[in-house]
Amino acid sequence: MMAKRRAVITGAGQGMGRAIALRFADDDIHCALVGRTESKLRAVAAEIADRGGTAEVHALDVTDDEAVAELGVALADATVDVLINCAGDWLINYLQDTSNAQLDHILRTNLRAPYILSRALLPNLRRSDNASIINIGSLVTSNLVPTVSAYTASKAGLKGMTGSLAAELKPELIRVVMISPGPADTPMRDAASPGIDKSVLVDADTIADMAHTVVSLPRGITTSDFILYSMRWG
Ligand SMILES: NC(=O)c1ccc[n+]([C@@H]2O[C@H](COP(=O)([O-])OP(=O)(O)OC[C@H]3O[C@@H](n4cnc5c(N)ncnc54)[C@H](OP(=O)(O)O)[C@@H]3O)[C@@H](O)[C@H]2O)c1
Repeated sequence: MMAKRRAVITGAGQGMGRAIALRFADDDIHCALVGRTESKLRAVAAEIADRGGTAEVHALDVTDDEAVAELGVALADATVDVLINCAGDWLINYLQDTSNAQLDHILRTNLRAPYILSRALLPNLRRSDNASIINIGSLVTSNLVPTVSAYTASKAGLKGMTGSLAAELKPELIRVVMISPGPADTPMRDAASPGIDKSVLVDADTIADMAHTVVSLPRGITTSDFILYSMRWG
């Protein structure tokens, strides 16, 4: 019997990460669920089990270097076919009102953590015969808008990192792709834009389907980074 493919998904306790995990599990991909809140991850693992899939839970903060290193140790013997860097945080604030601590937090979570996690799991990805890293970006890096300069800086950095890493890992046929959603129907959007008209949002399942399409491409085939947004937005 062929071994199951394995995905490591950060931010898997809710929103897009959860939707991606459920979509992957439905395709018999074993999901390593990473996030801060263990109870949320366990709830997603239970949903996956109910649907006949398999998952494991790794409760950790992706900005904690030691915890990420420990994840690398825990997965040392595993082949990882997919890494989804989805965990992220948001900040809507004017430049003059943004503290150094807020800036550091956003850059650490949205940019530095995907870098360090990608490096930690590279040996595992190298064992796969069809490996993917998907970084979740944002529409804000192409549609530049006010009050999100720190968040935009983090996602623009991630976009640059994605492109450079895609070139670096191309000889090994490891695809590195960014999916940049517009406003999406997740708990983050509920927190950032309370009461928003949901009809202008992208469904998390639609983003999950896109991620699944990318990781299902044949070995040696990749795609450019792409944006996914509702035409009712803006
Ligand atoms: N929603 C949107 O409109 C939108 C649009 C474009 C891009 N995005 C991007 O899409 C990604 C997913 O967003 P979402 O809307 O699904 O967000 P969400 O509903 O807030 O879910 C994010 C998840 O990431 C986890 N997380 C956050 N910081 C973490 C950390 N330091 N360590 C480990 N886990 C952490 C959270 O865990 P806990 O629950 O335990 O805190 C949460 O489960 C983010 O990168 C976001 O920037 C979102």
